[in-house]
Amino acid sequence: MEPFQVHAILNSLALLSFLAGAYQAKKHDLKRHHLFVYSAVGLLTLGVAYMLYTIGGVPSSHGKLGLFVYLYVLFAATSGKLFLGRKLKREQHRLIAITAVLLLALQILFGLYLYVL
Ligand code: HEM
Repeated sequence: MEPFQVHAILNSLALLSFLAGAYQAKKHDLKRHHLFVYSAVGLLTLGVAYMLYTIGGVPSSHGKLGLFVYLYVLFAATSGKLFLGRKLKREQHRLIAITAVLLLALQILFGLYLYVL
């Protein structure tokens, strides 16, 4: 299997795990929400770090945009902590998290378009 295929699979699994996490938040199951969100962050970290290690830098615009999306996803995870600490409102955390999932979905679609199709 090519490194970019491993990278794409890990990142796509991360998106699925985020979607499962959002579903658990809707069901008010906080334990499962955290389980899926932390798994997603772990999968995305592996997917991005593996590619950075393989390429040894960030030469492509796909990679630069990907790093931005990764940082935004970390920001969204932090916003959950801020919401629990009552520093953010539920709606604010929701908006930040939905934006992160949309950015990740777009980045995956761009990746598929650029390197697979
Ligand atoms: C199905 C989805 C994806 C595919 C097919 C894909 C494919 C690739 C390929 C082929 C490279 C190597 C580019 C090169 O040789 O210069 C790469 C690099 C990279 N990708 Fe992805 N990617 C996908 C999703 C993502 C996502 C979701 C992120 C981040 C959120 C991401 C972040 C990166 C980074 C940081 C690099 C390394 C730096 C660089 O090449 O500039 N990718 N990806």
